[in-house]
Amino acid sequence: MPAQENMYKPLRARVEKVIPESPAIKSFVLLPEREFAFRTGEFIELTVNGCGEAPFTPSSSPLEKKKIEVTVMKAGYVTEKIHELQPGEVVGIRGPFGRGYPLERFYGKEVVILGGGCGFAPIRSLLYNLIAEKDKFDKVTLCYGAKTPEDCIYKPFVDELRKVEKFEVLRSVDKADEGWEEREGVVTVLLDDIKVNITNSVAVVCGPPIMMKFGTFKLLEMGYPEHDIFLSMEKNMSCGLGKCGHCMMGKYYVCKDGPVFTYEEIKDQPDIWK
Ligand SMILES: Cc1cc2nc3c(=O)[nH]c(=O)nc-3n(C[C@H](O)[C@H](O)[C@H](O)COP(=O)(O)OP(=O)(O)OC[C@H]3O[C@@H](n4cnc5c(N)ncnc54)[C@H](O)[C@@H]3O)c2cc1C
Ligand code: FES
Repeated sequence: MPAQENMYKPLRARVEKVIPESPAIKSFVLLPEREFAFRTGEFIELTVNGCGEAPFTPSSSPLEKKKIEVTVMKAGYVTEKIHELQPGEVVGIRGPFGRGYPLERFYGKEVVILGGGCGFAPIRSLLYNLIAEKDKFDKVTLCYGAKTPEDCIYKPFVDELRKVEKFEVLRSVDKADEGWEEREGVVTVLLDDIKVNITNSVAVVCGPPIMMKFGTFKLLEMGYPEHDIFLSMEKNMSCGLGKCGHCMMGKYYVCKDGPVFTYEEIKDQPDIWK
């Protein structure tokens, strides 16, 4: 639900900290001028003065209202400008927008999460939420993949997550180096290594389109029903409010009806993997 009165007017937020995550990805801790609430999986529009705005899903805990963290991969004009931001500079945030993860549908179940590259951003926010409510879930397994070991993000978070009861982390890289002791191969290979009771499980997928596609197909092959696979879709966006039509995916406005959808909801819409 939109928290701001005028959803076109950005809220000022100061950059408190910049965290380099990998050669192409940085995280930014932002201090909004007033408290900012969001549900995990919802997204914000981040404005850089004199440059433009772009959508990002907060990677921080939705339980933290005074600070918000976004993790940004350099992709083009706006994201390059974001990467140049320094602590103390001011940006704008609008939102939150869209429909996030329906956590109540995960209660009592095993949660299997498949993430790739910068798709770890919304997943980290979701994981913070799952940790806070861990008594309500059976078990949580994160399968995360990146191109190389140096492209793996959130290393301190992963180390901490491995110590949390009921949480398991499996990682793979497309191309390993000498120091890598985990799996090598595309992220879906990790699904071969997990033990899961599919009849009492939901799966969450977030990452680049090609990974979302093959990840979803593998989960279907494993026996997951279409309504238990949750996908976070990224489409070009502008207003974030279901007005401009930039984000249309068949009958859906991704900004308003998503970005989180079940595979069952979107499987017949055109170009879902583009
Ligand atoms: C709901 C949502 C959540 C997102 N969350 C994150 C996040 O947490 N971290 C992150 O790094 N990125 C995220 N993205 C993607 C991010 O918004 C784009 O990378 C960004 O808008 C690119 O802007 P740009 O001006 O730098 O690139 P541009 O110069 O506009 O384009 C560079 C390339 O990126 C493609 N592109 C542009 N906009 C998008 C888009 N919205 N989605 C996918 N590709 C796009 C273009 O087609 C082009 O190929 C999210 C996108 C959506 C829709
Ligand atoms: S971004 Fe404008 S309608 Fe979705």
